Amino acid sequence: MQNTQVLLAARPVGFPKLSDFRVVQTELPELKEGEALVEVIYLSVDPYMRGRMSEGKSYAAPMQIGDVMVGGVVGRVLRSNDPSLSYGDYVEGFLGWQKYGIAPAKQLRKLDPAAGPLSAALSVMGMPGLTAYFGLLDICKPKRGETVVVSGAAGAVGSIVGQIARLKGCQVVGIAGTDAKVKWLTEELGFDSAFNYKTAPDIYAKLKDLCSKGIDCYFDNVGGTITDAVFGLLNPNARIAICGQISQYNNVKPELGPRNLSQILVKTATVRGFLVMQYLDQAREALIEMGGWLREGKLKYRETFVDGLANAPQAFLGILQGDNTGKMLVRVAPER
Ligand SMILES: NC(=O)c1ccc[n+]([C@@H]2O[C@H](COP(=O)([O-])OP(=O)(O)OC[C@H]3O[C@@H](n4cnc5c(N)ncnc54)[C@H](OP(=O)(O)O)[C@@H]3O)[C@@H](O)[C@H]2O)c1
Repeated sequence: MQNTQVLLAARPVGFPKLSDFRVVQTELPELKEGEALVEVIYLSVDPYMRGRMSEGKSYAAPMQIGDVMVGGVVGRVLRSNDPSLSYGDYVEGFLGWQKYGIAPAKQLRKLDPAAGPLSAALSVMGMPGLTAYFGLLDICKPKRGETVVVSGAAGAVGSIVGQIARLKGCQVVGIAGTDAKVKWLTEELGFDSAFNYKTAPDIYAKLKDLCSKGIDCYFDNVGGTITDAVFGLLNPNARIAICGQISQYNNVKPELGPRNLSQILVKTATVRGFLVMQYLDQAREALIEMGGWLREGKLKYRETFVDGLANAPQAFLGILQGDNTGKMLVRVAPER
């Protein structure tokens, strides 16, 4: 059986290029005992993949040139050599950028198609949703009446963070890169306010205006100058979750800073990085709570779809420049 795969062709220097990827046709290997063959329906493209394309060691090993691009997928089981899965089952797993993937059945999460849209397993009911949930609730620990600022607010993680903070009774301010995203955050998701960082003449002044009582929690998806501005407005004992630093991912030379750490000192603030995988043992309970909020209409989400596996590189470049609202997904095959 023929497979189509997208490989890492070259390590990007700065902003990635389409030529850093290569689409190839390969033969699928035989299925071993305990494994399942999955037809990919949805592929998730995520900012962390930029890090894996580079050589340096991070929290996970880098990909090698010629490797299939890594990534989470939702798909349909075509064959199974394990009693836990059968033909036609829907699963979520880490199968990468390819038309068909093979994995041990125990590494695949079986999905109930009656529980909601399948794609949600890669967005609100999957890794990004869990990142929002644990980063906000465990690191920021927002209290009723506090002010929460979210950068990257209209993305997969940020859009959920702001809504959970609202559910906890906080005043929520979002920062995003287009007027349409700002409108979505305030008019549909219930953010108290939001602004476009690309057109705001002075980010610090805008934040100061919107956060009249200062900032108690900051959920940072982007880093850079936006984070510098937030640091200047922190309240005593503020909590900052470092979730992502997307403004830095394509830097050829790392930026130094932040220089305004004196603000962390004088405000006795806590800055903590986290990885969603640290919370996997608590994921089930979190998904039950998030599923309840979704059913009650208290949590909304959006997905941006790009069609065709061959367009996955373009979709990936898109998230690095803000083409997505909510979660960016590639539709590889129809659901049927
Ligand atoms: N710690 C963890 O375990 C964990 C897990 C998942 C994700 N993350 C991180 O969380 C962040 C959000 O991930 P996501 O999956 O939800 O991605 P996302 O927000 O859906 O997509 C990325 C967004 O980043 C914004 N962006 C791109 N370049 C920017 C820049 N220079 N300055 C400011 N914003 C920029 C763009 O929106 P605009 O139009 O607003 O610019 C883009 O839509 C990423 O940094 C990611 O690495 C961390």
